[in-house]
Amino acid sequence: MTAANTTPADATRFTIREVAARLDAGARAERCRDATFGRVFTEHMVTLRWDPDAAWHGGRVEPMAPLPLDPATVGLHYGQIVFEGLKAYRLDDGCVGVFRPDRYGERFRRSADRLMMPRLPVRDFLHAIEHLIRVDADWVPPDRDRSLYLRPLLLAADADLALRPARRYLFVLTAFVTEMFFGAKRAIDVWLSEDYVRSVPGGVGAAKYAGNYAAGYRAQAQAAEHGCDQVVWLDALERRWVEELGGMNLLFVEGEGTAARLVTPPLTGTILPGVTRESVLELAPRLGLTVAERPVSVDEWQDGCRSGRITEVFACGTAAQITSVGQVRGRDRTWQVGDGRPGPVATRLGALLADIHRGAEQAPGKWLHRIDDVRDRA
Ligand SMILES: Cc1ncc(COP(=O)(O)O)c(C=O)c1O
Repeated sequence: MTAANTTPADATRFTIREVAARLDAGARAERCRDATFGRVFTEHMVTLRWDPDAAWHGGRVEPMAPLPLDPATVGLHYGQIVFEGLKAYRLDDGCVGVFRPDRYGERFRRSADRLMMPRLPVRDFLHAIEHLIRVDADWVPPDRDRSLYLRPLLLAADADLALRPARRYLFVLTAFVTEMFFGAKRAIDVWLSEDYVRSVPGGVGAAKYAGNYAAGYRAQAQAAEHGCDQVVWLDALERRWVEELGGMNLLFVEGEGTAARLVTPPLTGTILPGVTRESVLELAPRLGLTVAERPVSVDEWQDGCRSGRITEVFACGTAAQITSVGQVRGRDRTWQVGDGRPGPVATRLGALLADIHRGAEQAPGKWLHRIDDVRDRA
């Protein structure tokens, strides 16, 4: 089916071509049985193009399919590629809610700008998401520990290997069903990366730039060799200051009960400004927590755990939500955080965030972008 769409006149238009035959509920459930991260994609994707003459144009909602790419597609060679990762949830009332898409859309623009790529207006970012969810609403899972992960990608598309910013770009939005990143609720063990760094001052650490992730594989492999789930990135200059995990920001809990305070490294340009981090910092006062953004050294982390001043440490991000850290390992030291299990602050914050995602708790401001007219198809 091809149809015009309801996009307002001032925004990019999308034409819609749906798959000829949709999967039925049984086939969908079968595909979703193992929802390991990044494997179970929905039936459609959204594409949009940019060139200097037409700006953003050619929006399409179409069946999910391989992209025809010239082998000389420049983004594949020089890495002019940025992406995002955000989630849509089935709300308790049956509608679908996308969590803070405007904030992810703004970060997508900042990442693009850092890589000399065109900045997709947040309005078009939202329309692309709305279109995909409307056409693939049946894929948004009702289960509390599952969601639909949305993956916007921007790729330099010139078939021309000149070493300069491309003149044509391709935006692709796909979505896949996902479950809890670290499986059952447990604390993760983390590896201090003392041999490799992720980011340098003046570099691309604050951008969701594709190359940041491949460049982390070597350190992540080291973490796995030492029995750890994730790598802790340290600052590049002194290897002394804690920055973040491979795909999550880090928060430290000092003290307990009503005296508890959240501490997290500041956004100085080498850390990805996580939307979950920002949300947790905004929610903290609701749980009676004070918040401080200040540098935390590895020594302070170890000493704080030993003395009991640091009672919990947890990571936060879109994929893993809130995940406690149980053990820290480095080349010549190992220590436990608290009793090594998920702590009360992380557990309460995780539950609050999960309730907000489902619309069961009121979010501060308009955090949930509701897509109401999909309810009947659920
Ligand atoms: C390196 C890195 N840090 C932190 C985060 C957490 O960011 P967010 O909460 O926006 O998912 C991510 C995930 O996107 C990440 O890749």
